[in-house]
Amino acid sequence: MNEQIANIEKAISAFHIGSSEDAEQFRLTFLSRKGQIPALFEAFKLLPGDEKRLYGKTINALKQKAENIYKEGVKSANQKQQQSVDYTRAVKDLPFGSRHPLSVIRDEIIDIFARIGFDVSYGPEIEDDWHNFSALNFPEEHPARDMQDTFFVEKDPDFALRTHTSSVQVRVMENTAPPIRTISPGRVYRNEAISARSHCFFHQIEGLYIDKDVSFADLKQTILYFAEQFFGKSKIRMRPSYFPFTEPSAEVDVYWGLNNEVDYRLTKGTGWLEIMGCGMVDPAVLQASNIDPEVYSGFAFGMGVERIALNRYQIPDIRMLSENDMRFLKQF
Ligand code: PHE
Repeated sequence: MNEQIANIEKAISAFHIGSSEDAEQFRLTFLSRKGQIPALFEAFKLLPGDEKRLYGKTINALKQKAENIYKEGVKSANQKQQQSVDYTRAVKDLPFGSRHPLSVIRDEIIDIFARIGFDVSYGPEIEDDWHNFSALNFPEEHPARDMQDTFFVEKDPDFALRTHTSSVQVRVMENTAPPIRTISPGRVYRNEAISARSHCFFHQIEGLYIDKDVSFADLKQTILYFAEQFFGKSKIRMRPSYFPFTEPSAEVDVYWGLNNEVDYRLTKGTGWLEIMGCGMVDPAVLQASNIDPEVYSGFAFGMGVERIALNRYQIPDIRMLSENDMRFLKQF
């Protein structure tokens, strides 16, 4: 035993740790599970009781010493390594990232609405029935509630992946007293067949404005302002439409023009491009969030970010926006 201890002690003292590789070698030789010190403890276990008393302290001290040497060695190896880094060396070809086209568009839209007093609100992507449907005046038998359109949470069908960010607006209405001016960007999910033009998830930006005496004229003016700022177009038209949460409701087209072949393709030869849905917030929706429809009125609108990106950048396939191919993303 004495000899074994002495040998290890000698070996430890003779070991020079000059690098992190040395330190690792030291650890393997002496401290690791198959190293010499654990082996020493194994041998110690077999000693008769009185000898145990004799050696116990010594080998514990030896172990302590080895651990200290190891720690010190690692520390100084690290320091040495840091000193040897040449911070002035030129970096070799580090690829630059670029902003994702969807982020570019989202931030532009947020900016445009920020200038007329809209703040930004976010909410959960897994949403309950109340915020995604019921509070928005969706009747029980509405097809959007069908398994075909909505991804429900299997274990609890009261929860689903939100199908629009109108759910965020409900949350804002529940928690804020009017006046409310907010836009809600975010990812939404619909159980749709994936193709070049549609995907089972995409991004929306929805807007909500609630105050006293808000009229359809305010809605139209706000959208016109947006069309001018974002598309640089000064002509819009509104076509009657239907949403459970707005009444009246409309689809908005912007007059894109017919100046070249792309315009013809984009607008199917009409010159008009559909950009969003909108309408006056249904009184039942205000009521559901405890806002008095006798006092307040408001408008809401919602648009798909992917659709705008496909048009603006002439991207042929919506899937390119979520594939994260660097060759594609680098172009923006
Ligand atoms: N929530 C609607 C959708 O997802 C868009 C919309 C928002 C329409 C607000 C009208 C008003 O299609």
